[in-house]
Amino acid sequence: MASNSMEDLVALCKRRGFIFQSDEIYGGQKGLYSFGPMGVELKNNLKQAWWKAMVWQRDDVEGLDASLLTSPNVLKYSGHEDTFTDPLSDCKDCKSRWREDQLTDGICPNCGSKNLTEARPFNLMFKTSIGPVDDGSSYAYLRPETAQQIFTNFKNVLDSTNRAVPFGVAQMGKSFRNEITPGKFIFRVREFEQMELEFFCKPDTDEEWFKYWVQSRIDWWLEQGIKKENLEVFEAPQDDLSHYSKATTDLLYKFPHGFEELEGIANRQDFDLGSHTKNQSEFNIKAKVMENKDSTTKLAVQDLDTKEWYIPFCIEPSAGVERGVFALLNEAYNEEEVEGKTRVVLSLKPHLSPIKAAVIPLKRNNEDLVNHAKDLKNKLQMLGMGRVILENSGNIGKSYRRHDEVGTPICITVDFETLENQTVTVRDRDTMEQKRLGPEELINSLLYTSPSPRDKSQYPIPA
Ligand code: GAP
Repeated sequence: MASNSMEDLVALCKRRGFIFQSDEIYGGQKGLYSFGPMGVELKNNLKQAWWKAMVWQRDDVEGLDASLLTSPNVLKYSGHEDTFTDPLSDCKDCKSRWREDQLTDGICPNCGSKNLTEARPFNLMFKTSIGPVDDGSSYAYLRPETAQQIFTNFKNVLDSTNRAVPFGVAQMGKSFRNEITPGKFIFRVREFEQMELEFFCKPDTDEEWFKYWVQSRIDWWLEQGIKKENLEVFEAPQDDLSHYSKATTDLLYKFPHGFEELEGIANRQDFDLGSHTKNQSEFNIKAKVMENKDSTTKLAVQDLDTKEWYIPFCIEPSAGVERGVFALLNEAYNEEEVEGKTRVVLSLKPHLSPIKAAVIPLKRNNEDLVNHAKDLKNKLQMLGMGRVILENSGNIGKSYRRHDEVGTPICITVDFETLENQTVTVRDRDTMEQKRLGPEELINSLLYTSPSPRDKSQYPIPA
Protein backbone atom coordinates (compact mmCIF):
# COMPACT_ATOMS: atom_id res chain seq x y z
CA MET A 1 0.00 0.00 0.00
CA ALA A 2 1.39 3.44 -0.88
CA SER A 3 0.00 6.94 -0.31
CA ASN A 4 -0.71 6.83 3.37
CA SER A 5 -1.93 9.89 5.15
CA MET A 6 0.65 12.61 5.63
CA GLU A 7 -0.25 12.63 9.37
CA ASP A 8 0.64 8.92 9.78
CA LEU A 9 4.03 9.39 8.18
CA VAL A 10 4.90 12.60 10.01
CA ALA A 11 3.90 10.99 13.33
CA LEU A 12 6.04 7.90 12.67
CA CYS A 13 9.00 10.06 11.62
CA LYS A 14 8.88 12.00 14.88
CA ARG A 15 8.05 9.02 17.14
CA ARG A 16 10.86 6.82 15.84
CA GLY A 17 13.53 9.46 15.23
CA PHE A 18 13.53 9.78 11.45
CA ILE A 19 12.75 13.46 10.92
CA PHE A 20 12.28 16.46 13.23
CA GLN A 21 11.30 20.05 12.51
CA SER A 22 14.46 22.17 12.86
CA ASP A 23 14.81 24.46 15.89
CA GLU A 24 11.57 23.10 17.29
CA ILE A 25 12.35 24.30 20.83
CA TYR A 26 12.23 27.89 19.50
CA GLY A 27 9.01 27.37 17.60
CA GLY A 28 10.49 25.68 14.53
CA GLN A 29 11.80 27.03 11.23
CA LYS A 30 9.57 26.71 8.18
CA GLY A 31 11.07 24.62 5.41
CA LEU A 32 13.95 23.29 7.52
CA TYR A 33 14.15 19.74 8.89
CA SER A 34 16.71 17.65 10.79
CA PHE A 35 17.25 13.94 10.31
CA GLY A 36 17.26 11.98 13.59
CA PRO A 37 19.08 8.74 14.50
CA MET A 38 17.02 6.58 12.13
CA GLY A 39 16.65 9.27 9.45
CA VAL A 40 20.36 9.84 9.05
CA GLU A 41 20.96 6.10 8.53
CA LEU A 42 18.15 5.83 5.95
CA LYS A 43 19.33 8.93 4.13
CA ASN A 44 22.96 7.75 4.08
CA ASN A 45 21.89 4.31 2.82
CA LEU A 46 19.89 5.90 0.00
CA LYS A 47 22.82 8.10 -0.96
CA GLN A 48 25.18 5.15 -0.79
CA ALA A 49 22.91 3.11 -3.08
CA TRP A 50 22.91 6.02 -5.55
CA TRP A 51 26.71 6.40 -5.37
CA LYS A 52 27.20 2.67 -5.91
CA ALA A 53 24.97 2.61 -8.98
CA MET A 54 26.19 5.90 -10.44
CA VAL A 55 29.93 5.76 -9.66
CA TRP A 56 31.28 2.45 -8.35
CA GLN A 57 29.39 0.14 -10.67
CA ARG A 58 30.19 2.17 -13.78
CA ASP A 59 33.36 2.57 -15.81
CA ASP A 60 32.53 6.02 -17.13
CA VAL A 61 31.74 8.20 -14.08
CA GLU A 62 33.93 10.01 -11.52
CA GLY A 63 32.84 11.57 -8.22
CA LEU A 64 33.20 15.10 -6.88
CA ASP A 65 32.52 16.92 -3.61
CA ALA A 66 32.78 20.65 -4.33
CA SER A 67 32.21 23.69 -2.13
CA LEU A 68 28.72 24.94 -1.25
CA LEU A 69 29.60 28.64 -1.27
CA THR A 70 29.67 29.69 -4.88
CA SER A 71 31.15 32.71 -6.62
CA PRO A 72 28.61 35.18 -8.07
CA ASN A 73 30.33 34.85 -11.47
CA VAL A 74 29.44 31.16 -11.63
CA LEU A 75 25.80 31.91 -10.97
CA LYS A 76 25.78 34.92 -13.27
CA TYR A 77 26.91 32.92 -16.33
CA SER A 78 24.81 29.89 -15.35
CA GLY A 79 21.78 32.16 -15.67
CA HIS A 80 20.71 31.80 -12.04
CA GLU A 81 21.13 35.47 -11.14
CA ASP A 82 18.71 36.46 -13.89
CA THR A 83 16.30 33.57 -14.17
CA PHE A 84 16.18 31.67 -10.86
CA THR A 85 13.17 33.64 -9.71
CA ASP A 86 9.52 33.34 -8.76
CA PRO A 87 7.09 36.19 -9.55
CA LEU A 88 5.68 37.56 -6.26
CA SER A 89 2.81 39.93 -5.37
CA ASP A 90 2.43 41.75 -2.05
CA CYS A 91 -0.96 42.35 -0.43
CA LYS A 92 -0.94 46.06 0.48
CA ASP A 93 -3.57 45.50 3.18
CA CYS A 94 -2.37 42.50 5.22
CA LYS A 95 1.27 42.66 4.01
CA SER A 96 1.36 38.98 3.05
CA ARG A 97 3.37 37.88 -0.01
CA TRP A 98 2.20 35.41 -2.67
CA ARG A 99 3.53 33.55 -5.65
CA GLU A 100 1.59 34.59 -8.74
CA ASP A 101 0.27 31.06 -9.30
CA GLN A 102 -1.27 31.04 -5.79
CA LEU A 103 -3.61 33.93 -6.60
CA THR A 104 -7.03 33.33 -8.10
CA ASP A 105 -8.78 36.36 -9.67
CA GLY A 106 -6.19 38.67 -8.10
CA ILE A 107 -7.52 38.09 -4.57
CA CYS A 108 -5.28 37.79 -1.48
CA PRO A 109 -5.82 34.26 -0.08
CA ASN A 110 -5.18 35.61 3.45
CA CYS A 111 -7.56 38.59 3.77
CA GLY A 112 -9.54 38.61 0.51
CA SER A 113 -8.25 42.04 -0.53
CA LYS A 114 -7.76 42.92 -4.20
CA ASN A 115 -5.22 45.56 -3.26
CA LEU A 116 -2.16 43.66 -4.58
CA THR A 117 1.09 44.91 -6.13
CA GLU A 118 2.18 43.93 -9.64
CA ALA A 119 4.12 40.66 -9.58
CA ARG A 120 7.89 41.22 -9.29
CA PRO A 121 10.67 38.66 -9.72
CA PHE A 122 12.12 37.37 -6.45
CA ASN A 123 15.46 35.53 -6.61
CA LEU A 124 15.47 32.24 -4.73
CA MET A 125 19.19 32.14 -3.95
CA PHE A 126 20.59 32.71 -0.46
CA LYS A 127 23.39 35.29 -0.41
CA THR A 128 26.04 35.61 2.29
CA SER A 129 29.10 37.78 2.83
CA ILE A 130 32.62 36.40 2.61
CA GLY A 131 35.52 37.68 4.70
CA PRO A 132 35.61 39.84 7.83
CA VAL A 133 33.82 42.94 6.46
CA ASP A 134 30.11 42.76 5.70
CA ASP A 135 29.87 45.74 3.30
CA GLY A 136 28.33 43.94 0.33
CA SER A 137 31.54 44.10 -1.75
CA SER A 138 32.47 40.46 -1.26
CA TYR A 139 29.71 37.92 -1.29
CA ALA A 140 28.85 34.40 -2.35
CA TYR A 141 25.71 32.37 -2.88
CA LEU A 142 24.80 29.13 -1.19
CA ARG A 143 24.56 26.89 -4.24
CA PRO A 144 21.01 26.40 -5.58
CA GLU A 145 22.03 23.16 -7.35
CA THR A 146 25.12 20.96 -7.04
CA ALA A 147 25.54 20.96 -10.82
CA GLN A 148 27.37 24.24 -11.37
CA GLN A 149 30.53 23.20 -9.53
CA ILE A 150 30.65 20.10 -11.70
CA PHE A 151 30.78 22.33 -14.77
CA THR A 152 33.39 24.67 -13.30
CA ASN A 153 35.52 21.64 -12.30
CA PHE A 154 35.08 19.95 -15.69
CA LYS A 155 38.67 20.54 -16.80
CA ASN A 156 40.09 19.63 -13.38
CA VAL A 157 38.37 16.24 -13.49
CA LEU A 158 39.32 15.65 -17.11
CA ASP A 159 42.98 16.59 -16.59
CA SER A 160 43.36 14.56 -13.39
CA THR A 161 41.81 11.33 -14.72
CA ASN A 162 42.13 9.48 -17.99
CA ARG A 163 38.52 10.13 -19.01
CA ALA A 164 37.32 10.94 -22.51
CA VAL A 165 33.82 11.82 -23.71
CA PRO A 166 31.42 10.15 -23.06
CA PHE A 167 31.88 10.29 -19.30
CA GLY A 168 30.09 11.72 -16.28
CA VAL A 169 30.77 13.46 -12.98
CA ALA A 170 28.52 12.66 -10.02
CA GLN A 171 27.99 14.69 -6.88
CA MET A 172 25.72 14.49 -3.84
CA GLY A 173 25.25 17.26 -1.33
CA LYS A 174 23.36 20.24 0.00
CA SER A 175 21.57 22.81 -2.11
CA PHE A 176 19.70 25.86 -0.84
CA ARG A 177 16.64 27.67 -2.16
CA ASN A 178 14.68 30.41 -0.47
CA GLU A 179 11.37 28.76 -1.42
CA ILE A 180 8.41 31.12 -1.03
CA THR A 181 6.04 28.37 -0.05
CA PRO A 182 7.94 25.50 1.56
CA GLY A 183 5.65 22.71 2.69
CA LYS A 184 4.17 19.24 2.28
CA PHE A 185 6.54 17.96 4.96
CA ILE A 186 10.01 17.43 3.42
CA PHE A 187 8.76 17.71 -0.16
CA ARG A 188 9.60 21.39 -0.63
CA VAL A 189 12.22 22.66 1.79
CA ARG A 190 14.79 25.45 1.84
CA GLU A 191 17.85 23.31 2.53
CA PHE A 192 18.01 19.88 0.90
CA GLU A 193 20.38 17.42 -0.71
CA GLN A 194 20.62 16.55 -4.36
CA MET A 195 22.15 13.55 -6.10
CA GLU A 196 23.22 14.83 -9.51
CA LEU A 197 25.08 13.39 -12.45
CA GLU A 198 26.32 15.55 -15.30
CA PHE A 199 26.98 13.17 -18.16
CA PHE A 200 29.03 14.63 -21.03
CA CYS A 201 28.63 13.29 -24.54
CA LYS A 202 29.20 14.25 -28.18
CA PRO A 203 26.60 16.75 -29.44
CA ASP A 204 24.92 14.39 -31.89
CA THR A 205 24.58 11.56 -29.34
CA ASP A 206 22.65 13.55 -26.73
CA GLU A 207 19.18 12.25 -27.55
CA GLU A 208 20.23 8.63 -27.30
CA TRP A 209 21.99 9.23 -23.96
CA PHE A 210 18.96 11.12 -22.73
CA LYS A 211 16.72 8.09 -23.35
CA TYR A 212 19.30 5.83 -21.74
CA TRP A 213 19.42 7.88 -18.54
CA VAL A 214 15.64 8.21 -18.24
CA GLN A 215 15.29 4.41 -18.36
CA SER A 216 18.24 3.79 -16.07
CA ARG A 217 16.86 6.19 -13.44
CA ILE A 218 13.37 4.65 -13.57
CA ASP A 219 14.90 1.21 -13.03
CA TRP A 220 17.01 2.47 -10.12
CA TRP A 221 13.99 3.85 -8.28
CA LEU A 222 12.16 0.54 -8.80
CA GLU A 223 15.19 -1.25 -7.31
CA GLN A 224 14.92 0.99 -4.25
CA GLY A 225 11.36 -0.23 -3.64
CA ILE A 226 9.15 2.24 -5.51
CA LYS A 227 6.22 0.42 -7.11
CA LYS A 228 5.74 0.84 -10.85
CA GLU A 229 2.17 2.06 -10.45
CA ASN A 230 3.33 4.89 -8.17
CA LEU A 231 5.81 6.31 -10.69
CA GLU A 232 4.83 8.40 -13.71
CA VAL A 233 6.95 9.75 -16.52
CA PHE A 234 6.19 13.34 -17.50
CA GLU A 235 7.71 15.08 -20.49
CA ALA A 236 7.88 18.80 -19.79
CA PRO A 237 6.28 20.92 -22.55
CA GLN A 238 8.70 23.07 -24.58
CA ASP A 239 7.33 26.34 -23.16
CA ASP A 240 7.95 25.14 -19.60
CA LEU A 241 11.62 24.16 -19.91
CA SER A 242 14.41 25.70 -17.81
CA HIS A 243 16.58 28.21 -19.68
CA TYR A 244 19.32 25.60 -20.24
CA SER A 245 17.18 22.67 -21.31
CA LYS A 246 16.42 21.23 -24.73
CA ALA A 247 14.22 18.47 -23.21
CA THR A 248 13.28 17.48 -19.66
CA THR A 249 11.58 14.34 -18.39
CA ASP A 250 10.35 14.33 -14.82
CA LEU A 251 9.80 11.17 -12.80
CA LEU A 252 6.70 11.85 -10.74
CA TYR A 253 5.96 9.87 -7.59
CA LYS A 254 2.57 9.42 -5.96
CA PHE A 255 3.25 11.28 -2.68
CA PRO A 256 0.46 11.43 -0.06
CA HIS A 257 -0.49 14.83 -1.56
CA GLY A 258 -0.51 13.53 -5.16
CA PHE A 259 1.84 12.88 -8.09
CA GLU A 260 4.79 15.30 -8.00
CA GLU A 261 8.42 15.46 -9.13
CA LEU A 262 10.89 13.08 -7.54
CA GLU A 263 13.67 13.45 -10.09
CA GLY A 264 14.22 15.39 -13.29
CA ILE A 265 16.35 14.32 -16.25
CA ALA A 266 17.37 17.25 -18.44
CA ASN A 267 19.23 17.62 -21.69
CA ARG A 268 21.30 20.68 -20.79
CA GLN A 269 22.96 20.66 -24.23
CA ASP A 270 26.21 22.67 -24.33
CA PHE A 271 24.64 25.47 -22.27
CA ASP A 272 26.72 25.28 -19.07
CA LEU A 273 30.15 24.34 -20.40
CA GLY A 274 29.53 26.85 -23.19
CA SER A 275 28.47 29.67 -20.91
CA HIS A 276 31.49 29.20 -18.58
CA THR A 277 33.96 29.16 -21.49
CA LYS A 278 36.29 31.98 -22.57
CA ASN A 279 36.42 33.03 -26.24
CA GLN A 280 33.09 31.34 -26.88
CA SER A 281 32.97 32.47 -30.51
CA GLU A 282 35.64 29.86 -31.35
CA PHE A 283 33.02 27.19 -30.82
CA ASN A 284 29.77 26.36 -32.50
CA ILE A 285 27.69 26.59 -29.28
CA LYS A 286 24.08 25.48 -29.89
CA ALA A 287 22.49 26.78 -26.69
CA LYS A 288 21.77 30.47 -26.13
CA VAL A 289 24.55 31.63 -23.79
CA MET A 290 25.51 34.99 -22.29
CA GLU A 291 28.75 36.53 -23.56
CA ASN A 292 31.45 35.60 -21.03
CA LYS A 293 34.09 38.23 -20.19
CA ASP A 294 35.34 36.66 -16.96
CA SER A 295 36.18 32.99 -17.55
CA THR A 296 39.84 32.03 -17.82
CA THR A 297 39.31 28.57 -19.34
CA LYS A 298 37.83 26.81 -22.33
CA LEU A 299 35.65 23.90 -21.25
CA ALA A 300 36.09 22.00 -24.47
CA VAL A 301 37.54 18.69 -25.63
CA GLN A 302 39.25 17.55 -28.81
CA ASP A 303 37.65 15.06 -31.16
CA LEU A 304 40.35 12.38 -31.53
CA ASP A 305 39.39 11.60 -35.14
CA THR A 306 38.79 15.05 -36.64
CA LYS A 307 41.14 16.86 -34.17
CA GLU A 308 38.49 19.57 -33.84
CA TRP A 309 37.71 21.12 -30.47
CA TYR A 310 34.09 21.08 -29.36
CA ILE A 311 31.97 21.68 -26.27
CA PRO A 312 30.31 18.46 -25.08
CA PHE A 313 26.58 18.18 -24.53
CA CYS A 314 25.36 17.25 -21.07
CA ILE A 315 22.57 14.97 -19.83
CA GLU A 316 21.63 15.54 -16.19
CA PRO A 317 19.66 13.16 -13.96
CA SER A 318 18.97 15.17 -10.77
CA ALA A 319 17.21 13.65 -7.77
CA GLY A 320 16.31 15.11 -4.38
CA VAL A 321 17.39 13.07 -1.35
CA GLU A 322 14.57 14.36 0.88
CA ARG A 323 11.96 13.54 -1.76
CA GLY A 324 13.54 10.11 -2.14
CA VAL A 325 13.39 9.47 1.61
CA PHE A 326 9.78 10.70 1.69
CA ALA A 327 8.75 8.46 -1.22
CA LEU A 328 10.48 5.39 0.21
CA LEU A 329 8.96 5.90 3.67
CA ASN A 330 5.56 6.22 2.04
CA GLU A 331 6.08 3.02 0.03
CA ALA A 332 7.33 1.08 3.02
CA TYR A 333 4.72 2.17 5.58
CA ASN A 334 2.10 -0.49 6.29
CA GLU A 335 -0.51 -0.99 8.96
CA GLU A 336 -2.00 -4.43 9.61
CA GLU A 337 -4.12 -6.17 12.20
CA VAL A 338 -2.23 -8.77 14.24
CA GLU A 339 -4.06 -10.55 17.05
CA GLY A 340 -6.54 -7.70 17.37
CA LYS A 341 -3.86 -5.00 17.49
CA THR A 342 -2.56 -2.66 14.83
CA ARG A 343 1.00 -3.41 13.77
CA VAL A 344 2.91 -0.63 11.97
CA VAL A 345 5.69 -2.02 9.84
CA LEU A 346 8.18 -0.28 7.59
CA SER A 347 8.95 -2.78 4.83
CA LEU A 348 12.01 -1.00 3.49
CA LYS A 349 14.35 -2.85 1.15
CA PRO A 350 16.97 -4.24 3.55
CA HIS A 351 19.85 -2.27 2.01
CA LEU A 352 18.01 0.94 2.98
CA SER A 353 16.98 -0.11 6.50
CA PRO A 354 18.55 2.13 9.17
CA ILE A 355 19.38 -0.94 11.28
CA LYS A 356 20.28 -4.24 9.63
CA ALA A 357 19.72 -6.45 12.67
CA ALA A 358 18.88 -6.14 16.37
CA VAL A 359 20.45 -8.64 18.75
CA ILE A 360 18.25 -9.27 21.80
CA PRO A 361 19.27 -11.29 24.87
CA LEU A 362 16.28 -13.31 26.15
CA LYS A 363 16.81 -12.08 29.72
CA ARG A 364 18.01 -8.60 30.44
CA ASN A 365 19.89 -9.41 33.63
CA ASN A 366 21.54 -12.67 32.67
CA GLU A 367 25.22 -11.88 32.28
CA ASP A 368 25.99 -14.88 30.05
CA LEU A 369 23.16 -14.07 27.63
CA VAL A 370 24.01 -10.35 27.54
CA ASN A 371 27.72 -11.00 26.99
CA HIS A 372 26.98 -13.49 24.24
CA ALA A 373 24.60 -11.00 22.59
CA LYS A 374 27.22 -8.23 22.80
CA ASP A 375 29.81 -10.49 21.25
CA LEU A 376 27.47 -11.52 18.44
CA LYS A 377 26.52 -7.90 17.79
CA ASN A 378 30.19 -6.96 17.43
CA LYS A 379 30.86 -9.88 15.07
CA LEU A 380 27.89 -9.01 12.84
CA GLN A 381 28.88 -5.35 12.85
CA MET A 382 32.29 -6.41 11.48
CA LEU A 383 30.59 -7.77 8.34
CA GLY A 384 30.25 -4.15 7.19
CA MET A 385 26.59 -4.37 6.19
CA GLY A 386 25.61 -1.33 8.20
CA ARG A 387 24.38 -0.73 11.70
CA VAL A 388 23.66 -3.66 14.04
CA ILE A 389 22.42 -2.90 17.53
CA LEU A 390 22.16 -4.58 20.89
CA GLU A 391 18.60 -4.30 22.19
CA ASN A 392 18.52 -4.99 25.90
CA SER A 393 15.23 -3.47 27.01
CA GLY A 394 14.07 -6.72 28.62
CA ASN A 395 10.79 -6.80 26.69
CA ILE A 396 11.06 -8.78 23.49
CA GLY A 397 7.52 -7.90 22.31
CA LYS A 398 8.24 -4.18 22.63
CA SER A 399 11.60 -4.59 20.87
CA TYR A 400 9.89 -6.33 17.93
CA ARG A 401 7.34 -3.51 17.64
CA ARG A 402 10.02 -0.83 17.71
CA HIS A 403 12.09 -2.62 15.07
CA ASP A 404 9.05 -3.24 12.86
CA GLU A 405 8.42 0.50 12.90
CA VAL A 406 11.96 1.45 11.93
CA GLY A 407 12.21 -1.29 9.31
CA THR A 408 14.86 -3.60 10.84
CA PRO A 409 14.77 -6.71 8.58
CA ILE A 410 15.66 -9.22 11.31
CA CYS A 411 15.65 -9.50 15.11
CA ILE A 412 18.00 -12.11 16.58
CA THR A 413 17.26 -13.55 20.00
CA VAL A 414 20.04 -15.05 22.08
CA ASP A 415 18.65 -17.66 24.51
CA PHE A 416 19.96 -20.50 26.68
CA GLU A 417 20.18 -22.87 23.73
CA THR A 418 22.50 -20.34 22.04
CA LEU A 419 24.96 -20.74 24.90
CA GLU A 420 25.06 -24.47 24.21
CA ASN A 421 25.12 -24.73 20.41
CA GLN A 422 25.49 -21.15 18.98
CA THR A 423 22.09 -21.25 17.26
CA VAL A 424 19.81 -18.22 17.54
CA THR A 425 16.17 -17.43 16.83
CA VAL A 426 15.76 -15.10 13.85
CA ARG A 427 12.46 -13.25 13.38
CA ASP A 428 11.62 -11.85 9.95
CA ARG A 429 10.12 -8.32 9.96
CA ASP A 430 7.65 -8.88 7.13
CA THR A 431 6.39 -12.41 7.74
CA MET A 432 7.00 -12.41 11.53
CA GLU A 433 8.17 -16.00 11.08
CA GLN A 434 10.84 -17.27 13.44
CA LYS A 435 13.58 -19.69 12.48
CA ARG A 436 16.42 -21.29 14.39
CA LEU A 437 19.68 -20.62 12.56
CA GLY A 438 23.31 -21.58 13.04
CA PRO A 439 26.12 -18.98 12.68
CA GLU A 440 26.72 -19.57 8.96
CA GLU A 441 23.04 -19.40 8.02
CA LEU A 442 22.71 -16.26 10.11
CA ILE A 443 25.49 -14.55 8.20
CA ASN A 444 23.95 -15.60 4.89
CA SER A 445 20.61 -14.14 5.93
CA LEU A 446 22.34 -10.84 6.69
CA LEU A 447 24.24 -10.66 3.41
CA TYR A 448 21.08 -9.77 1.52
CA THR A 449 20.92 -6.43 3.34
CA SER A 450 23.54 -5.06 0.95
CA PRO A 451 22.35 -3.82 -2.48
CA SER A 452 23.16 -6.37 -5.14
CA PRO A 453 25.24 -5.31 -8.14
CA ARG A 454 23.16 -4.19 -11.10
CA ASP A 455 23.06 -6.29 -14.21
CA LYS A 456 24.98 -4.26 -16.78
CA SER A 457 23.50 -6.17 -19.74
CA GLN A 458 20.20 -4.39 -18.96
CA TYR A 459 21.79 -1.07 -19.90
CA PRO A 460 23.33 -1.25 -23.33
CA ILE A 461 25.53 1.81 -23.57
CA PRO A 462 24.83 3.99 -26.65
CA ALA A 463 27.61 3.66 -29.24
N1 GAP B 1 20.33 20.72 -11.42
C1 GAP B 1 18.99 20.65 -11.86
C2 GAP B 1 18.03 20.97 -10.79
O1 GAP B 1 18.41 21.41 -9.73
P1 GAP B 1 15.49 20.90 -10.18
O2 GAP B 1 14.34 20.26 -10.91
O3 GAP B 1 15.34 22.30 -9.77
O4 GAP B 1 16.75 20.72 -11.15
C3 GAP B 1 16.20 18.66 -9.04
O5 GAP B 1 15.85 20.02 -8.92
C4 GAP B 1 15.61 17.84 -7.91
O6 GAP B 1 15.95 18.43 -6.66
C5 GAP B 1 14.07 17.79 -7.93
O7 GAP B 1 13.59 16.77 -8.77
C6 GAP B 1 13.77 17.52 -6.47
O8 GAP B 1 13.84 16.14 -6.20
C7 GAP B 1 14.89 18.24 -5.74
N2 GAP B 1 14.42 19.55 -5.23
C8 GAP B 1 14.36 20.71 -5.91
N3 GAP B 1 13.90 21.70 -5.12
C9 GAP B 1 13.64 21.15 -3.92
C10 GAP B 1 13.13 21.65 -2.67
N4 GAP B 1 12.84 22.94 -2.49
N5 GAP B 1 12.97 20.79 -1.64
C11 GAP B 1 13.31 19.48 -1.79
N6 GAP B 1 13.79 18.96 -2.93
C12 GAP B 1 13.97 19.77 -3.99
